Amino acid sequence: MKPDVLVYYPTRARQMEMLEARYTLHRLDLAADPDALLAEVGLRCTAMVTNGHRVLDRALLAKLPNLKIAASSSAGYDTMDVAACTEHGVTITNTPDVLTDDVADIALLLLLATRRKLIVGDRWVRSGDWGRNGPLPLTSATAGKRVGIVGLGRIGRAIAHRCEALRLEVGYTGRSRKPDTAYAFFPDLVELARWSDILVIATTGGADTQALVGAAAIAALGPEGTLINIARGTVVDEPAMIAALQSGGLGAAGLDVYLNEPTPDPAFAAMDNVVLYPHHASGTFETRNAMAQLVVDNLSAYFSGKPLLTPVNGEIQR
Ligand code: DGY
Repeated sequence: MKPDVLVYYPTRARQMEMLEARYTLHRLDLAADPDALLAEVGLRCTAMVTNGHRVLDRALLAKLPNLKIAASSSAGYDTMDVAACTEHGVTITNTPDVLTDDVADIALLLLLATRRKLIVGDRWVRSGDWGRNGPLPLTSATAGKRVGIVGLGRIGRAIAHRCEALRLEVGYTGRSRKPDTAYAFFPDLVELARWSDILVIATTGGADTQALVGAAAIAALGPEGTLINIARGTVVDEPAMIAALQSGGLGAAGLDVYLNEPTPDPAFAAMDNVVLYPHHASGTFETRNAMAQLVVDNLSAYFSGKPLLTPVNGEIQR
């Protein structure tokens, strides 16, 4: 008898084949009547395959009374009620580390593209404006400027290392000073924004960081400032950011994440001082395969009684 596993959000095709070979998969993601499927198999499923874009809350947990593991194919888990999962005896696993380089690369891609107006320049060439109107207006240099990083975790550090190579001075804010780095620490986010030419948001999403970068930080970054967000749309006060970008109170923004995904506020599309990416910082074959494999490997560890590879909220209570 193969164990029953609920698929709330599928993972990569090759890893889905591996899962199918080992388990009886119940496709909640494809179910015409999700409630009927949960009523039928909810008791039998001790494991779930999911993703950070799916909500795992008390209501769903109540329909899965024997669930022990929710294996997610994303690093972020802000859509999952971690406290409720812990109370319910469910361990969440996520996919840290394997996406760090790709996400940090996209932060730098957005940083440079935004400051050097890559998209405007591309249009300048394609449209014939170059021939008609002459050179693109000058842009602002990056080397020698200051970058403030909000959240010096694994991804924040990878961004900081890349920024050093660009000859940027690095400062950061976070819950506490990191004893193993000489980067300037700012306990206050608004002070960091005031010091910075570029502010890069690399913190986790969720209730603790909701609108953390608000109107005051945006105003402190100012008309010459560049805001980069590769974390979660929720971390920024998005209406305040849009208003500042429109009025010139904030210079420019490079964004991978938004409040309303996948249909962000249409105001973004009308602005030339933003560079937009569709929440795809980890979207390479190599990284997505590694993330999917972690889902498979965490489930294997669970079903063979071994320690989980990347648990978020403690080990499985067997
Ligand atoms: C993550 O892994 O959390 C990324 O944002 C992709 O979902």
